[in-house]
Amino acid sequence: MIDPWSSAILNYEKLIEEFGIKPFHDLLDEIESPHILMRRGVIFGHRDYGRIVKAMREKNKFAVVTGMMPSGKMHIGHKMVVDQLIWYQKRGAEIYIPIADMESYSARGIDFSEAKRIAIEEYITNYIALGLDLDNDNLHIYLQSENKTVGDLAYKLAKRVNMNEMKAIYGFSGSTNIAHLYTPLIQVADILHPQLEEFGGPKPTVVPVGPDQDPHIRLTRDIAERFGTQFNFISPSSTYHRFITGLTGGKMSSSKPKTAIFLTDSAEMAVKKLKSAKTGGKESLAEQQEMGGIPEDCVVYEMLLYHLLQSDDELKKIYHECREGSIMCGECKARAAEMIKNFFKDLHIKRENAKNKAKSILN
Ligand code: TRP
Ligand code: SF4
Repeated sequence: MIDPWSSAILNYEKLIEEFGIKPFHDLLDEIESPHILMRRGVIFGHRDYGRIVKAMREKNKFAVVTGMMPSGKMHIGHKMVVDQLIWYQKRGAEIYIPIADMESYSARGIDFSEAKRIAIEEYITNYIALGLDLDNDNLHIYLQSENKTVGDLAYKLAKRVNMNEMKAIYGFSGSTNIAHLYTPLIQVADILHPQLEEFGGPKPTVVPVGPDQDPHIRLTRDIAERFGTQFNFISPSSTYHRFITGLTGGKMSSSKPKTAIFLTDSAEMAVKKLKSAKTGGKESLAEQQEMGGIPEDCVVYEMLLYHLLQSDDELKKIYHECREGSIMCGECKARAAEMIKNFFKDLHIKRENAKNKAKSILN
């Protein structure tokens, strides 16, 4: 069982074996200019993504839905979703971004007003600063608690979901509070409402998420089928990206500041954190020269792979140099530090410029 509200690290291979998620790699050749995270295997799995490939190829309408739970600060791992949204926006997708204030209330005890503040100051500001166009007519961003269409749809759909099913999917028990029990239905409605007649009717929809969200995807796909004759929903597709490793080697998590580089960190702080990160290097220089390092176990390499280095050739070069022991961690970190410094300097300016705009988005 996967618990979307716990922070356990998942075994990606197992997800593919046990939950029927398909390897993303198999579709790569069919996608025109795939996203860097697709090419590099960070997006590792999907359900029914073929539908989205087809819609993009034939220039048909399709929707992208991905939400955020406004519970704390945004870290650099959260940037991945924004990067994907930007890619879809360039491809003409209808984009829906629910702000899951109902979920952060039921799962984290955060009031709606506080969730709204976090959404504006953290998420929306960063989304704009990172390059997503929130003014685009094809983009809809909303608070779950304020979206009547979504609320009503959730309630309608809930009529055909029972307690045993929720227990089986989420491990809910007799002591689970009803708000928590109900919020997955809101998320299901987030994902399906773009297919209602008032939003243009049934269309392929993709939900780009981390694998912890897969229980919601499975529930949504089941419900979509159950309401087949009533709404004609097309079962939503999904993609799954690997989580970024935290600075200390475990999961990067906003609730554990030592593990995370926050998007609000200063350039100096980001550099300092990167320099202190766990690498795949050896104990001594001599040993590393002889045996090489292990980029697969290196947070610095991962930062280059996910975020900092756009050129695949340069990335490959670093990979081989590391493996061969011809580059040492000190030099490698210094290079990455330069890149992260520039990234954060630029982001800081863009965040400052985005602040006012961000306040107007939810009005
Ligand atoms: N549950 C998601 C999270 O924890 C947020 C979310 C709400 C979401 N609605 C969604 C994600 C719809 C994808 C699609 O971050
Ligand atoms: Fe990581 Fe670079 Fe050291 Fe290799 S050389 S382990 S990629 S920091």
